[in-house]
Amino acid sequence: MKLSKSPEKHVSTATRLATAGRRKEWTGPVVNPPVWRASTHLYANMAELAEAPKRNEDGRFFYGRRGAPTQWALAEALTEIEPGAAGTMLYPSGVAAIAGALLAVLRPGDVLLMTDNAYDPSRAMGKGLLKDFGIETRFFDPLDIAGFEAAICERSRAVLLEAPGSLTMEMQDVPALARIARARGMVSIVDNTWASPLGFPALEHGADISVMSLTKHVGGHSDLMMGSASAGAELYARLRKTAQALGQVVSPDDAALALRGLRTLGLRLEKQTRNALEVATWLAERPEVARVLCPMLPGSPGHDIWARDFTGGCGLFSFILKGGDAARRNRFIDALDLFGIGYSWGGFESLVTPVDPASMRDATPWPPAGLDPADRFGVRLFIGLEDPADLIADIARALVAMDAP
Ligand SMILES: Cc1ncc(COP(=O)(O)O)c(C=O)c1O
Repeated sequence: MKLSKSPEKHVSTATRLATAGRRKEWTGPVVNPPVWRASTHLYANMAELAEAPKRNEDGRFFYGRRGAPTQWALAEALTEIEPGAAGTMLYPSGVAAIAGALLAVLRPGDVLLMTDNAYDPSRAMGKGLLKDFGIETRFFDPLDIAGFEAAICERSRAVLLEAPGSLTMEMQDVPALARIARARGMVSIVDNTWASPLGFPALEHGADISVMSLTKHVGGHSDLMMGSASAGAELYARLRKTAQALGQVVSPDDAALALRGLRTLGLRLEKQTRNALEVATWLAERPEVARVLCPMLPGSPGHDIWARDFTGGCGLFSFILKGGDAARRNRFIDALDLFGIGYSWGGFESLVTPVDPASMRDATPWPPAGLDPADRFGVRLFIGLEDPADLIADIARALVAMDAP
């Protein structure tokens, strides 16, 4: 939704997390906008009904598919924390948001450039749905800026970036890539789920559309699915048109939960970043670990770009075990007590998944040059709000258990 900004324009993002989206006309006399459960919106008379389809601006009652104050408040709040955004569309999942952004800017015959370390369902979308619609996807090395520029052709219309990339955590130079894309008339879309605009205001760094899986940090409690795409005025209008055509809408209950999560987003990200750094620092010293893939950690790949462009991080990073096989890695994961085995991340609790990206690469091999081919079994950790000392003790125990006879 795009609505004129609330009066607290001058305040910091931290303050905005507390105030954003709380318009009096949506909250009434209480703190949070109530859950407006509504499909039908009622009209006073025939004249009003006849007028309604002619008006399609944000924040206007029409029919449930266009949302009501609970969803409008969330969309406005997300716009307020994304500097440079004129509006935000909400989607029923992060993948739906990525699809919504891509379908808003691509047409049959176009070429999409996609970073090779994009979230696997994004990659699958390029190879499946988009291909079926006559859109070609070409993957490029996330770290090769010259290679990206060379891959641009006359039909290239958009690029999908992700920093750091899924699983392997390579850090892209978003400002450089977005600058090249813009100069060549392409739209740059960043999957900004990892840092959120708190750690990386993507539009301010030159991107055109900033996408997030709200399922992760914004929801923050592992109990909802949602996505968002924020952009400046022209692209926001295209996102909105496409989302409306596709019938995208989120439930008011989930929007209220996401708003609740948003209020503590800064606190959780800060704490999880500190916890993750503690665990990553400890892992980097362990003899069982070949490499820690955590751009926030000094000495880890991509740290220079992270330190230059980002003001924050989160609890998600990966590491590669030295030698061994998949069964050994799996014994490690099974031996962990405090880490749930499961997809997703961004909640209050720690999680673990295996990292086997070899089959998810087109432009770049895995393991990459510089890593011993024997060191290829990876683990992704999401570090939650637990005491990091307990998490480290749990990992230490599991590393021993992994090699126990
Ligand atoms: C980087 C990234 N982007 C997008 C998504 C998709 O989000 P959702 O699960 O809400 O569809 C995920 C989910 O794991 C993700 O890790």
